Amino acid sequence: MFKTVIAGIGHYVPKNVFTNNDLTRYMDTSDEWIQERTGIKERRYADRTGETTTTMGVEAAKMAIEKAGISNNDIDFIIFATLSPDYYFPGCGVLLQRAMKMNEVGALDIRNQCSGFVYALSVADQFIKTGTYKNILLVCSEKHSFGLDFSTRGRNVSVIFGDGAAACVLQPTQEEGRGVLSTHLHSDGESAEILAMFNPGTHANHWLEQKVANFDDAEMGEMFMSHQMIDNAQNFPNMDGPTVFKKAVVKFPEVIMEALEKNGYKPSDLNLLIPHQANLRIAQFVQQKLQLKDEQVYNNIERFGNTTAASIPIALSEASELGKIKKGDLVCMAAFGSGFTWGSALMRW
Ligand code: UT7
Repeated sequence: MFKTVIAGIGHYVPKNVFTNNDLTRYMDTSDEWIQERTGIKERRYADRTGETTTTMGVEAAKMAIEKAGISNNDIDFIIFATLSPDYYFPGCGVLLQRAMKMNEVGALDIRNQCSGFVYALSVADQFIKTGTYKNILLVCSEKHSFGLDFSTRGRNVSVIFGDGAAACVLQPTQEEGRGVLSTHLHSDGESAEILAMFNPGTHANHWLEQKVANFDDAEMGEMFMSHQMIDNAQNFPNMDGPTVFKKAVVKFPEVIMEALEKNGYKPSDLNLLIPHQANLRIAQFVQQKLQLKDEQVYNNIERFGNTTAASIPIALSEASELGKIKKGDLVCMAAFGSGFTWGSALMRW
């Protein structure tokens, strides 16, 4: 059986820097509040003229493919994770396949929000281990800036998110002591509405609330998205932040320990932990709970905010560029977010 290695990794963030003070032009917030509660100083927002989730993913993918020393034609499967796709459907996987003029290979879209990278890596790992594919392109990209409520009403959500993308090429290896050791995925749908974007959607909650028993012709055309839903801000993400926070600080350490124990390791054996960059305070809590040293944890949320599916691979790509990960290092990646879904992956780099 093969093991999965990251043969090339790259990331792309938009040039446009948006500081906490820039946000005060739109909503009642402050640099002090945002830094104290989240650790975020600035984030990147996509160029409004044409930069999309897919185009950012393409830029990251080009870097990953170049670093792996292969060409677009060598890619035999695409996995694309995002919660902010260019279209409701089809997903970004096929848009990337078209933009990069790739062969007619499979393109799978992953909808696991903050856990997108860990879920995607786990799926890719199964294909690689069994010898099904030899060069999987895994892309994570988010363009949040187009879909946030920038009024004071949405400030608890909007200040934490940023745009960006990362990609990696996954290959099989039989080299001793390298590759993905295990992945661990979890969910708890009881909390689905705690962090969610409800519209557009097929759930009809809006209509049930209006007590509409029989939909007439006009309503038929408005069920998916109506003017009233927009007036009520139902097209923006909703989050009960404190509830997410409380659950995250329990599930992060739990799922990291699950990965370590499965492979006979303890926290002190880790060379690097890359937690999903949701909130610096969550990452610090996890670090403290596992008694990890500063050099064992990599965070970059101060500069990029929370880029959801892209946050772990952007951090991984940066850490690798900075020489903070060497061949053979024990690296753990862990995520928790909307769904709730959470998971971890442990690998020897
Ligand atoms: O990656 C996806 C998963 N998401 C997460 O992991 C997020 C987890 N949660 C969090 O990171 C935190 O809950 C937030 C950073 C989102 C919010 O921080 P908090 O300390 O939990 O604040 P809160 O929502 O309890 O709000 C406290 C106060 C409220 O005012 P009152 O009612 O006490 O007067 C809010 O209205 O802070 C107010 N507030 C703000 N004030 C200034 C909320 N957002 C802001 C803001 N600026 N941006």
